[in-house]
Amino acid sequence: MSTFEIKPGTALEGSITPPGDKSISHRLVFLAALAEGRSRIRGFLSSDDCMRTVNVMRELGVCISEKRKDELEILGVGLHSLKSPAKVLYTGNSGTTTRMLMGISAGQKFRTVIDGDESIRKRPMKRISEPLSRMGAVIRGREDGNFTPISVEGGGLKPIFCYNKLSSAQVKSAVLIAGLYANGVTEIEEPFPSRDHTERLLERMGAEIVRKGNAVAILPPRKLNPIEATVPGDISSAAFWLAAGAVQSGKSIAVEGVGLNPTRTGFIKVLSKMGADIQMKICSDDSEPVGIVTVTGNNLVGISIQKDDIPSLIDEIPLIMVLGSLANGRTIIRGASELRVKETDRIQAMVKNLRTLGVAVKEYPDGVEIEGRSGLDGGEVESFTDHRMAMSMAIAGLRAKSPVKIKNSECVDISYPEFFTDFRKLAKI
Ligand code: S3P
Repeated sequence: MSTFEIKPGTALEGSITPPGDKSISHRLVFLAALAEGRSRIRGFLSSDDCMRTVNVMRELGVCISEKRKDELEILGVGLHSLKSPAKVLYTGNSGTTTRMLMGISAGQKFRTVIDGDESIRKRPMKRISEPLSRMGAVIRGREDGNFTPISVEGGGLKPIFCYNKLSSAQVKSAVLIAGLYANGVTEIEEPFPSRDHTERLLERMGAEIVRKGNAVAILPPRKLNPIEATVPGDISSAAFWLAAGAVQSGKSIAVEGVGLNPTRTGFIKVLSKMGADIQMKICSDDSEPVGIVTVTGNNLVGISIQKDDIPSLIDEIPLIMVLGSLANGRTIIRGASELRVKETDRIQAMVKNLRTLGVAVKEYPDGVEIEGRSGLDGGEVESFTDHRMAMSMAIAGLRAKSPVKIKNSECVDISYPEFFTDFRKLAKI
């Protein structure tokens, strides 16, 4: 159990390249495993979560070698040659691994049993079991297939139309992957666009994808082609440094090599609306746009965020709560009840931590209302073993009058193992 302490007066400045994108790293492993032949992935995020995906695919008979820490070679076995796993597939803390794996398992004739850690066992899976069952998979789990341990037995799937009312990319990805195995066109539609990395990769690997508005359809391909890919930097990890830049008046932080997929950049728009000075440049656009973003701190103003904004900044909401605590006026976030079923209940956890730092926060079932202040108190806060909570509190610490101590801070390993190293680098300590 480690505690990270931020001392008053700590200032971050300079430039940094964030680690590889977590969502894209997971997807590349899953899809390359199902392709026919050798794929190579550079810039892979070898964090705890993404290594869960590597390990479950190894259990399903795929040879994955780590050429370097951030480079994988994957010998794809094709869509129909995964092998029945000898044991329960353990997905740790990773929601993306659990849910996308359910999609893959639905396409297999053998039975797969999936389980995760204490947090995963509390996260709802009905959103995945329901459409996959409609496609013909047999899914059993606690509370009618809502919680792991879950068993999936599939094969012979039929296509469906699915309305994804949660606008969840994990649901969309699981259904599209199961659609690889259906005997017709599978379509999924959502009210607001969620991240589209799965569609982009499937297209690149030769699958026929048809997009219409917020709907996407997949025609089952005969095979997926292997891929050579470089994972862009994770905008959700870069967001911590952009926020650090925004809350320090007159200081600039640049993030380089960061993915700027428009379904993920809601946070940059929020920073700009709050008054931060932002410069953004796209440097390449080979399947995913990648560029540099520089933020210079300013006095921030409160903002209102509603349901339709949520999917493009879902993982950055705890950090936006920190920004709101330091902005002039009130920040309102509503329509975000999904936060209650993330790695921890992120609304409850942030309310508790921000109150510890002296912030007036009102809690709603689907969000918060925050009164901004010019600075925060110090204190001991919790990570709730949630990586994004720990990193958000590190940014809050930059504007506290006395030390902020973050308990159980090692959970950053889930998505950003080098977070504290990079923090010290930017702080020059
Ligand atoms: C993810 C999608 C989001 C996000 C999660 C990663 C993905 O979840 O919160 O961290 O890689 O598809 P939902 O799609 O469930 O909103």
